[in-house]
Amino acid sequence: MVLLVFILVTFIIDRCKTTVIPKDLYFPRLTTVTKTPYSSVFIFHRSSSRFPSINRVIEFTDSTGPMDIWHSLSDEELVEKAMMVPRVAEDPKKVAFMFLTRRHLPLRLFWEKFFEGHDGLFSIYLHTSPDFNYEPPNSSVFYNRRIPSKFVQWGKPTMIDAERRLLANALLDFSNQRFVLLSESCIPLFNFTTIYNYLMNANGSFLSSFDDPRKIGRGRYNKRMGPTITLKDWRKGSQWFEVNRELAHEIISDKTYYHVFQTHCLPPCYMDEHYLPTLVNKIRPDLTTNTTVTWTDWSGGGSHPMMFMKKDITKTFINEVRYGSNCTYNGVNSKICFVFARKFHPNTLDPLLKMAQKIFGFSP
Ligand SMILES: *[C@@H]1O[C@H](CO)[C@@H](O)[C@H](O)[C@H]1NC(C)=O
Ligand SMILES: *[C@@H]1O[C@H](CO)[C@@H](O)[C@H](O)[C@H]1NC(C)=O
Ligand SMILES: *[C@@H]1O[C@H](CO)[C@@H](O)[C@H](O)[C@H]1NC(C)=O
Ligand SMILES: *[C@@H]1O[C@H](CO)[C@@H](O)[C@H](O)[C@H]1NC(C)=O
Ligand SMILES: *[C@@H]1O[C@H](CO)[C@@H](O)[C@H](O)[C@H]1NC(C)=O
Repeated sequence: MVLLVFILVTFIIDRCKTTVIPKDLYFPRLTTVTKTPYSSVFIFHRSSSRFPSINRVIEFTDSTGPMDIWHSLSDEELVEKAMMVPRVAEDPKKVAFMFLTRRHLPLRLFWEKFFEGHDGLFSIYLHTSPDFNYEPPNSSVFYNRRIPSKFVQWGKPTMIDAERRLLANALLDFSNQRFVLLSESCIPLFNFTTIYNYLMNANGSFLSSFDDPRKIGRGRYNKRMGPTITLKDWRKGSQWFEVNRELAHEIISDKTYYHVFQTHCLPPCYMDEHYLPTLVNKIRPDLTTNTTVTWTDWSGGGSHPMMFMKKDITKTFINEVRYGSNCTYNGVNSKICFVFARKFHPNTLDPLLKMAQKIFGFSP
């Protein structure tokens, strides 16, 4: 009798499996994690008793070339895997450049000049609109660097989901040590070596977080967020962060505060301006300098920063952005406070390329 039930149950499970297998076959769900002898290669695979030959292996590696970073993990599975990876990079040598874009990266050629000759010290991740499937030429560092993406609405929780997706994917590479979020209108202000050293040697993360007493700051706090989040905890900051591995890990691990924000941070509260600044203030205020390294010009007033055009791109302007500020870096006064800048119109590509040699020095 017991045997009969067992056989019946096995049969039913088998049947159920069959119904999910067509999708599984194509994109198997991934269950086990294996570490390869190469510290930065991380493999997920699944073997099925029904189809022992199915063992699709997905490698997350340090490669910036045509290595497959595509996978079929759900957001929950992805975060779960990312939470299992070491908090301390085993071979901390790379900066993860995470681009949150809608479609094309209009300044791609400028970024390519920036990355040239620095293979092995960076990795690139692109989150685009899910229906966007253009790939640049296979010689590009951006080739095959899209991660499985979902639809994003500006200022909504889906935007934070995209940021978490980028962080979780980038955490899977054990050699990523710093994680920078960039938009399609961002540019690097210095050559790779300078930016790399600036970020890798910084003792804090550059996630901006401050208390804005105005209506557009504290005014967006909702009492219903209490007692988990009080007005005293409430912070604002730029969306464009740079975090170290430890803070990246903390961010993707949060469920509590995310949930409160998702429920109560509704317009005119924008999650991308308040969630991370408040979260970091609550859980690890010791890990950030509370400032961003991405320069933005808000001097025009209004809710959108200045957009720079072709005619604005001059040596004087770039140098002003590079050296026109005062801050402290690792506790010492510094003129270099920003290493990235936005917002640059696609028509700035030509003048930027012409100035690339001046901006980046004589790269090898
Ligand atoms: C890259 O693309 C070119 C032209 O489309 C093709 O000939 C070449 O085989 C590709 N190389 C690789 C490594 O895929
Ligand atoms: C970085 O180090 C300096 C000097 O030790 C210290 O003053 C500063 O608070 C540190 N910053 C962070 C974010 O840890
Ligand atoms: C950042 O702000 C928090 C409070 O919001 C504070 O505890 C922390 O010391 C600040 N960090 C630095 C480096 O100033
Ligand atoms: C930065 O500091 C220098 C010297 O301490 C000062 O002359 C300059 O005006 C300051 N710049 C800004 C933007 O505060
Ligand atoms: C990068 O820029 C720095 C100045 O920021 C310069 O000293 C260095 O020579 C440049 N490196 C290369 C490889 O051009």
